[in-house]
Amino acid sequence: MCGIIGYTGNKKCVPILIEGLRTLEYRGYDSAGVTVANSGELVTVKSKGRLDDLENKLKSQDELTGTCGIGHTRWATHGEPSDKNSHPHSTSNLSLVHNGIIENYAEIEEMLISAGYSFSSETDTERGAKLVDMFYKKSNDPIDAIKNAISVIRGSYAFGIIFKAHEDTVYAVRKDSPLIVSHSDKGGFIASDIPALLGYTSKYYRLDEGVIAVVKKDSVSFCDTDGNSVDQKEETVSWNVEQAQKGGFPHFMIKEIHEEPEAIRKTVEPRIKNGLPYFGIEALDGCKLSSFEAIHIVACGTAMHAGLVGKALIEKLARTPVNVEVASEFRYRDPILGKNDLVILLSQSGETADTLAALRLAKSMGVYTLAIVNVIGSSVAREADSVLYTWAGPEIAVASTKAYSVQCALLYLLAIRIALSKKMIDEQTASGICSSMVEKIPASIEQALKMNDAVRDVASKLVSSEHLFYIGRDIDCALCTEASLKLKEISYIHSEAYAAGELKHGTISLITEGIPVIALVTVSKVCEKTVSGIREVRARGAYTVCVATKELAEKYDIPCDEMLVLPETDELLAPFTAATILQLLAYHVSALKGLDVDKPRNLAKSVTVE
Ligand code: AGP
Repeated sequence: MCGIIGYTGNKKCVPILIEGLRTLEYRGYDSAGVTVANSGELVTVKSKGRLDDLENKLKSQDELTGTCGIGHTRWATHGEPSDKNSHPHSTSNLSLVHNGIIENYAEIEEMLISAGYSFSSETDTERGAKLVDMFYKKSNDPIDAIKNAISVIRGSYAFGIIFKAHEDTVYAVRKDSPLIVSHSDKGGFIASDIPALLGYTSKYYRLDEGVIAVVKKDSVSFCDTDGNSVDQKEETVSWNVEQAQKGGFPHFMIKEIHEEPEAIRKTVEPRIKNGLPYFGIEALDGCKLSSFEAIHIVACGTAMHAGLVGKALIEKLARTPVNVEVASEFRYRDPILGKNDLVILLSQSGETADTLAALRLAKSMGVYTLAIVNVIGSSVAREADSVLYTWAGPEIAVASTKAYSVQCALLYLLAIRIALSKKMIDEQTASGICSSMVEKIPASIEQALKMNDAVRDVASKLVSSEHLFYIGRDIDCALCTEASLKLKEISYIHSEAYAAGELKHGTISLITEGIPVIALVTVSKVCEKTVSGIREVRARGAYTVCVATKELAEKYDIPCDEMLVLPETDELLAPFTAATILQLLAYHVSALKGLDVDKPRNLAKSVTVE
């Protein structure tokens, strides 16, 4: 979702701003712009479309030599993608970029109209910029203006602002939308995410809410809204530029799928102590775990689908009821939470607005919250009662892959831990599963990755489809939901995930000659049932692709047009290899269609607005 970069230093800022925005492209955007403090003026150039369009416009602006500026990639919320709605939004005194949503923009607009302002865009951001301007005109003090503006604004924001009269300084402030600040001998920066800073420094400050950052070329300072100086904790990035690059792969998505074995190793191995899961968190390792009566997993999109896998595993192993919910529904539907329940928030970014709101709601109800998050120090991680990090490294492709796999792995460890604490399994069984996880999951995913060519062949048969179905039972059904989302978001093919036994209650009417149906068969106990489902759709002309474990493919006569046999592994671990194969399938369909795999239309990596 929208990207912010700001720079002040000794170098010409336009190339730095553009480069910074390029590293943030993965967040999703539909227009871009920059403002440069240039010889006493604030010069703004913006364009609908991709960064290349903005760069083309900037080519004719050789005189833009200023060394302080702000840049933005916009993902439209208020008003269509257009030049005039793009950020930055400027007045004669200042220029501002914004991530988030100003909820009371209409109220602010009325206030501004009474003060004589008019508007040229449909955006909430222009109202925000003019509100800062209105207060600035009264005090001529940037901090006072920002402080007064944020006391009026309701909603979420990360603002980067430059003022004409302070042309070497970038000001920043945030609420419910991430923003980081850094300073080094290369200058001062603000950014909405770490990749924008990696080329310059590994040290950064994650700005606390309500703290105003004043970034100059040779210093950075922070103050609260009373103007008192405050400290911010300096953090160090745990990954490097190479990890944020494609490393020889054509797309980030395929690179990230190939990183799954390593990501799972890093996430699982350190959490096994004396053969059993160990998290280093009192509530999870101690006796409290056995007192949780019900578990609620709350998340969005792919993370929610990992939650469905978690539900299958926790309920199977620990016999504890698990409710999996979409965060955007949970937060508004007055959920019933018991005092002895556990709420798990799953999120790659840790900044998803709905997940963050769900976390705050659960906390306000006095329920213990556990975050499972990939981005260290993110809002969900910081606000939950405890956090387990998935150590997947940076995930750049909009379509989440390795983050999903490590979320599933961590939930698996948690399921074992809960089962142990509730005495549903003994230590020997638990330790057997743990050692299989360490020894077999990464190795079998590595084998699955070797099936790349076979998967691409199957993908080539699906590229011209308009609709397709995924079917499975038990945990396969959970895996199908994610496989279907993956295909939809990057290949633009409509697909549905169905419990194989549910098709005949309505949806089978959509199965006609040639419609592809991808059947997942990894659960022996329901294998014959799934095979019946496959026969039913084949009888109606479906083109069937089967993804099955070696054991089941050998044991049963599974009718299909294409068969992808998963590498041999324990049945309880098969979901991991299946997930990888289904991700590869979605990837190849998109790549073969020549689509922008890593930046699918309309989507953003981190959804920081409702
Ligand atoms: C993943 O492929 C999606 N693009 C999306 O569904 C994502 O999983 C969702 O927005 C949740 O994001 P989070 O994990 O960062 O909270």
